[in-house]
Amino acid sequence: MLGIHALSESAMSAPVQDQNRQRFDAIAADWDDSPTRRALAAGVAAAITAAVPLQAHWHALEYGCGTGLVGAALAPRVARLLACDVSPGMLAVLAAKARAAGLDHLQTRVLDLTREPAPAERFDLVFSSMTLHHIPDVAALLRVLHGLLKPDGWLALADLDAEDGSFHRPDVPGVMHHGFDRAALQADLRNAGYTDVRARTAHTVSKTAADGRERRYPVFLITARP
Ligand SMILES: C[S@@+](CC[C@H](N)C(=O)[O-])C[C@H]1O[C@@H](n2cnc3c(N)ncnc32)[C@H](O)[C@@H]1O
Repeated sequence: MLGIHALSESAMSAPVQDQNRQRFDAIAADWDDSPTRRALAAGVAAAITAAVPLQAHWHALEYGCGTGLVGAALAPRVARLLACDVSPGMLAVLAAKARAAGLDHLQTRVLDLTREPAPAERFDLVFSSMTLHHIPDVAALLRVLHGLLKPDGWLALADLDAEDGSFHRPDVPGVMHHGFDRAALQADLRNAGYTDVRARTAHTVSKTAADGRERRYPVFLITARP
């Protein structure tokens, strides 16, 4: 992964969204090489498939799709997937994979919902994996995502449970949260207007932390209805 030392001084003082864009642009080409990331995404895609009654006519939006490790797995199950991310580099990798796989109904869009208006379209499913911990004001984003859902739609959010800060190396920029307390995030969702808020464990990442010790990091999937 790109370290903080590879970013220019101006990049370091940039808004967090720009730090994330620059970092993920720089590591996009290698993102899918990691077996840990692929296993995590497969676990999240399986958990969404188990928890959400996906329908072939659905229109879905993925927020923070990256190279589409989760989205490309779910795309064959829906009629349309709008895959959104702040990083054009990550989206370029996904667009190439979608072309190669003949996923014509998967479109990519550069989008930062923390700074830009939301699309006018309403979706049957909005999902996001491992992106919330990069978002400064999660409660505000939950309200924006609520507005993107059809009245009978589904939200599915996956991210790290609260951790001690060892998941990312200390020099990785753009990390705003060391995971999330499930109960607190579920309360934030209810405060944002969601109902039927449910949490389960989607996957557990095992990896060597920055201190050299092997650690396990559970990843939740929370589903909710608008
Ligand atoms: C840890 S990666 C996860 C990528 C993908 N979901 C996966 O599971 O492989 C986080 C992604 O969130 C994106 N991201 C970070 N901040 C964002 C923002 N404000 N708006 C949209 N995407 C953002 C990054 O560009 C990156 O692709």
